[in-house]
Amino acid sequence: MSFTSLLYDVDDGIARVTINRPDKLNALSATVIGELADAVGHIEADAGVRGVILTGAGAKAFAAGADISELVKQGPMEAKERSVAGQRMMRRFERCGKPVIAAVNGFALGGGCELAMACHLRVASESAKFGQPEVKLGLGPGYGGTVRLPRLVGKGRALELLLTGATIDAQEAYRIGLVNRVVPAEQVLPESEQLLKTILEQGPIAVRLVLEAVETGLDLTVEEALLLEANHFGLLSSTADMREGTSAFLAKRKPEFKGR
Ligand code: COA
Repeated sequence: MSFTSLLYDVDDGIARVTINRPDKLNALSATVIGELADAVGHIEADAGVRGVILTGAGAKAFAAGADISELVKQGPMEAKERSVAGQRMMRRFERCGKPVIAAVNGFALGGGCELAMACHLRVASESAKFGQPEVKLGLGPGYGGTVRLPRLVGKGRALELLLTGATIDAQEAYRIGLVNRVVPAEQVLPESEQLLKTILEQGPIAVRLVLEAVETGLDLTVEEALLLEANHFGLLSSTADMREGTSAFLAKRKPEFKGR
């Protein structure tokens, strides 16, 4: 597996994907988007990968958005294709069935904020900054910002960010629910790893189905989403892990899940 603009390594079941263009604040060029799509392909296919941490190289940025030097020349059809390619890649991370944590170590602007929102959870450094500044460029978001931001923080707060292009700091992002945790810079990766390990200690099939229920359920009616949840509840009761988890609780011991 060789990438030009990403670092990819797997350790103890955790894939760490690092966008590696620190001199350009990890701007999401077409190459980065393509390589992220390749990386998520590996993540989907590799049964040894149980969870993912997505981050940016360097101390300054997670990703400062789409690469503006590519946008400046684009025509309408090329722009639409760019948008769809980025959306598909981010949707694949969201639907890969394994928990994905964005370790946001600095600027998460435009496509960087959108990429962080396509992850299931976000851990931010105290110096991280968030925003959807596309309107400042005469553009709108192209990678799901108008879709995921209102779902995460509510319509009013989302529209304020989307319409003003304002940048907010990590504490404000935490206050409005855009990030799950804010920690000192040196703690962003260890905290993300710890959070992921906590998730990976739970019943693995249960974790997968909870992700599926939430990701799918948000697009369904309440009736349909409740039915999906009940079906998952039924399905999980056919697993050895459910017998193990409930028996271990009653026996006051730690469960040993096998993913079966
Ligand atoms: N696309 C392409 N290049 C970018 C970029 C982007 N989105 N964001 C930063 N860069 C490049 C800069 O052009 C600069 O390159 P250079 O050293 O070759 O001139 C380098 O990264 C460092 O950025 P710089 O602007 O000098 O850093 P700064 O600390 O002064 O400002 C930001 C940081 C994030 C405020 C500023 O870079 C910025 O506003 N970036 C664009 C954010 C944006 O609008 N994103 C949405 C795109 S749709």
